[in-house]
Amino acid sequence: MKIINILNTLFRSKTSKTENTQTYTTSAIEDSSVKSSYEPEMTNSEYIEINRYKLIDPWAWALILESKSTGERVYYVSEAPMSDLEKSIYGRIMKIIEWEIKPYKGGKDSSISYDLIREYFIDQVRRIVRVYSIKLGAVTRGVDWHKILYYLLRDTVGYGPLEPLMRDPYIEDISCDGVGKPVYIWHQMYESMPTNIRFNSDEELDSIVLKLAHIAGKHISVAFPIVDAILPGGHRLAATFKREISVGGSSFTIRKFREKPLSIVDLIIQRSINSLIAGYLWLLVEYKMPGIIMGVTGSGKTTMLNAIATLLRPNIKVVTIEDTPELRLTLENWVQLVSRPSYSLTGSKIGEVTLYDLVKVSLRYRPDVIIVGEIRGEEAYVLFQAIATGHGGLTTAHAESIYALVRRLTSPPMNIPQNYIPLMKWALLVKRIVLAREGKLSVYRRVSNIWEIRGPNDYENIAVWDPPIDSHRVNLSNSNLLRDIAQQTGLSLNDAIDEVKRRAYVLEQLALRGERDYRRVAEVVYMYYINPDRVLSSLGGPEI
Ligand SMILES: Nc1ncnc2c1ncn2[C@@H]1O[C@H](COP(=O)(O)OP(=O)(O)OP(=O)(O)O)[C@@H](O)[C@H]1O
Ligand SMILES: [Mg+2]
Repeated sequence: MKIINILNTLFRSKTSKTENTQTYTTSAIEDSSVKSSYEPEMTNSEYIEINRYKLIDPWAWALILESKSTGERVYYVSEAPMSDLEKSIYGRIMKIIEWEIKPYKGGKDSSISYDLIREYFIDQVRRIVRVYSIKLGAVTRGVDWHKILYYLLRDTVGYGPLEPLMRDPYIEDISCDGVGKPVYIWHQMYESMPTNIRFNSDEELDSIVLKLAHIAGKHISVAFPIVDAILPGGHRLAATFKREISVGGSSFTIRKFREKPLSIVDLIIQRSINSLIAGYLWLLVEYKMPGIIMGVTGSGKTTMLNAIATLLRPNIKVVTIEDTPELRLTLENWVQLVSRPSYSLTGSKIGEVTLYDLVKVSLRYRPDVIIVGEIRGEEAYVLFQAIATGHGGLTTAHAESIYALVRRLTSPPMNIPQNYIPLMKWALLVKRIVLAREGKLSVYRRVSNIWEIRGPNDYENIAVWDPPIDSHRVNLSNSNLLRDIAQQTGLSLNDAIDEVKRRAYVLEQLALRGERDYRRVAEVVYMYYINPDRVLSSLGGPEI
């Protein structure tokens, strides 16, 4: 609980979302006599080490270990251990910090950022450590003050034992299911792995969950045991507190913010989608054909939505509406709205701003396209109404098939009338698939189907993923939407299909050249809107 007291003192000022840029390793204590270095040694003969890299120089390393007997992989966080003397100094300084540090008084301005407060705190801790190290002087020969500072900052302004994981750019997901269970991670190269980090008592786990909620600027308690929030740097936190609603004790999942969102070219390279489907979607979104992306939890809906949204015409007005701000668009004319839960502790809805409120207000912005991160409740109805009045719309929903989707849309709490369903012109299903590759099972994301919605119960399958050959079959000649677009522009269906093929070629070329960065993709899309022929010829364009 100590750390929470410190944070309480510190963060009495308003905090705001900012990039996570803390550095611990700049020279903090100039008079340290010890050269700081640390290199872990592997002593456990049950495991072989298959990779290692530094997480926080020089204090924390990641070791990827593989069990000789079972082949199971483990993510081992190795931090420089403190000696007994260092531990006792750490304990004493932590107490001093608790007593000495005053709340940040840098200004009364409500825009004081989390970064400013953290910088202030880091300075204060450095000051205390410096004073203390001079006081103790010769008695503490051999003590590494940099290391003590590392642990102090890690455990106060950092994420405690989770800090090394938060700093690993390969980690996408960090989760803990309860007391005594290993923290699991999702690693971009090695996928799901247990770590050597675990919280062995209720108190330890409760306090890390309190801390996470606190860093996110949210309240969690026995009375309000659920938090869904955004941590500084954009990481998404979901947590439960104590054994109120989770039998195994407090739990949490952190979905780390990708520095660079996956672009449509990334998705082509990974074969989640193929270039022809991407070209087709590009043309549909240009003509503001409303669409919905569905899938189960964690299947990649938001990722797909973000990638498709970068295909929109760059100068249109877009309003996005989300519970947690996950979307990252490259559009100039973009208003990002985020809902807000109630401040009230009495169950009333005072101060609450819901998705429904936001979708309604968004219409006042006269958007060309409204993007709702995920529809679950009554906001769906307003979105459909907005679409009915000519706005473009993109959204996601939790459903595992088109039939389940329509059933959900037409049932409470969404209550979309049957005859509204075809206002959503297309639906795309993403799936998490486990495939055997090179003798190992791995998880992949695949666009499983795309339908054009023609009537409440009439869906035309335009693209389907074929598992045995792991590729997509696409039939554009059945597309009514392309036919509509062709009619709007005085062309034939074949002309529209040719246009899809040209766009597919552009994206395919970017994939072949490895030009996958989402900003680069947005730039090429932008140039294509201005001068398609020039883009095509610069890419060695085909005669389509
Ligand atoms: N095609 C992909 N390739 C690799 N990783 C992906 C892909 N799509 C999504 N992911 C990763 O999977 C995780 C979940 O993705 P995402 O948030 O898009 O899913 P979601 O379906 O929107 O989840 P939720 O139901 O929680 O909203 C993220 O860490 C994301 O980076
Ligand atoms: Mg999502």
